[in-house]
Amino acid sequence: MRSFPEVALGIADVGGALRHAAGRVTGAAHASARAQYLVTATAIIGQVRGLAPGAYEYDGAVHRLTMRACDDHRERLARATVDASWAAHCPMLVLLSTRAEHADGYFAELGPGQGERFAWLEAGLIAQNLYLWASATGHGTVFIGGLDRPAMADAAAPLLPAGHTVLGIMPLGHLAE
Ligand SMILES: Cc1cc2nc3c(=O)[nH]c(=O)nc-3n(C[C@H](O)[C@H](O)[C@H](O)COP(=O)(O)O)c2cc1C
Repeated sequence: MRSFPEVALGIADVGGALRHAAGRVTGAAHASARAQYLVTATAIIGQVRGLAPGAYEYDGAVHRLTMRACDDHRERLARATVDASWAAHCPMLVLLSTRAEHADGYFAELGPGQGERFAWLEAGLIAQNLYLWASATGHGTVFIGGLDRPAMADAAAPLLPAGHTVLGIMPLGHLAE
C-alpha cells in the first residue's frame, strides 16, 4: 500500500502498533537472539493527535516513547529512499535500526557479521508483526528497504541512538477507502 489518506492517527494507534511490533513485556513480542533486542524502533511522528511531530525512541520493555528530536522529519527521510517519496505524506513512519558494530561484537565468537545478520532477522520479525497488526486493525504499511545509504545516514543520524544505521522504514496510516 503506497497511498495513505492524510488522516491523523490517534495515540492509541501508535501505542498499539509499537507494542505489537516491538514490545517485549506483554507476550506480543518478537524473537531476539540471546534476548539481546538488537533492533530499535523509532517513531517518526507527523500527524498523530496528542503527540507533537518529532522522533521518539520506543522502549518495548516499559512501553514508553522518549522524544529524541522535535519537528517533522518525514520529508527528509522519504527523500533518502530510492522510490518512496510518498512516505512523506504518511502520518507516521517507524524506523528500524541497529548498532551493527555492537551486534557483531556481542556475537563475535560466531564469526564476522553474525550479529548484524541477527539484527536483520530481528527486523524482519518486527516488520511482519507490524504487517499483522496493521491488517488486523484497518491500517496499512509497506516495508521500505530501498535506501540511499549516505543520504539516509545523514537524515537519520540526529534521530537515532549513536552508532545506529537504518535497516528499514515502515510508514503507517489508515487504509485508503
Ligand atoms: C526487503 C524488502 C525491501 C523493500 N523495499 C521497498 C522499497 O524500497 N520501496 C517500496 O515501495 N516497497 C518496498 N518493499 C515492498 C515490496 O515492494 C512489496 O511488499 C511488494 O511489492 C508487494 O506490494 P504491495 O505492498 O503493494 O502489495 C520492500 C519489500 C521487501 C521485502
